[in-house]
Amino acid sequence: MDRTTLMLEKIAHRIQEFLAQVQSAEVERMAALLGQGKMLRSKLILAICPNHPQLIDFCAVIEMIQSASLLHDDVIDNAQTRRAQASINHTFGNQNAIMLGDIFYAKAFFELTKLDSQIAQLVAHSVMELSRGEIKDVRASDTFHTDITRYIDIIQDKSASLMVASCAGAALLSGLKPQAYHTFGRNFGIAFQIMDDLLDITQPKEVLGKPAFSDFKEGRSTLPYILLYQELDPLEQAQLQACFKNADEQALTWCAQQFKAHHIAPKVLEHIHHYAHCALEAIKGHASLEKVASSLIEREF
Ligand code: FPP
Ligand code: MG
Repeated sequence: MDRTTLMLEKIAHRIQEFLAQVQSAEVERMAALLGQGKMLRSKLILAICPNHPQLIDFCAVIEMIQSASLLHDDVIDNAQTRRAQASINHTFGNQNAIMLGDIFYAKAFFELTKLDSQIAQLVAHSVMELSRGEIKDVRASDTFHTDITRYIDIIQDKSASLMVASCAGAALLSGLKPQAYHTFGRNFGIAFQIMDDLLDITQPKEVLGKPAFSDFKEGRSTLPYILLYQELDPLEQAQLQACFKNADEQALTWCAQQFKAHHIAPKVLEHIHHYAHCALEAIKGHASLEKVASSLIEREF
């Protein structure tokens, strides 16, 4: 077993220990069904700060906050699946999913208070941004929009903010200046989310662990759709707009054809490479982080 795998196992175990302190078999059962996911943020933290007495606790806190946000997000989105399994809200109802999210969130913050106050502030700030992003996202889901700046602003809050806190927090733990890691986290988080939005239109549900094309169905104006809109004639633009939150199989097949015909995937990849490049430039010379970041961003491509 390599070191990263061993550390990820330790983090998962620490989360279980934290949750056992809640003293609820119900909580432990639901948490076991939720699982850990890819532990992406922990992989970045470990690459920045390989050793520190509070490293495992910090990673556990970040993963618990990530899980809390997803539990709440699945209620907001009325999602059926999460991490390739039935979602907690789907199996146990919205009330349980919200309360489980609150327990993850509160327990994570309890443990966070034992870390340096600068790190606690970074994480608290990121949760504010996460929630602000989710509010912007809910508002944006009313109608299809084609504003790239708005799209980036939302994913910066919703997807990059916890990565910023993870990376800058790991830098602080390591005694490194946090600014470069802050910049890295923001750009990496944006690149990663754009990749996620691209995979949503290029990969089958078996790879995604959730239905394909869910973004447009759920009312998310993601970059692939924004770039496609720019390539279409007015009649086709109207047709695309009509599919928003209202796409049957036939409409999705039409979208898939349009994505191919207008070479949208390579265009989206250019944006991903731009943000990935900015991320890597910020931490140039930090070989272990460069390696982990590149491998994470190159998944499936
Ligand atoms: C997934 O978005 C959602 C997020 C990344 C953030 C959600 C944040 C909150 C609900 C704020 C509350 C935070 C806490 C800590 C309680 P998505 O729907 O685009 O992605 P998906 O396809 O994975 O669902
Ligand atoms: Mg969601």
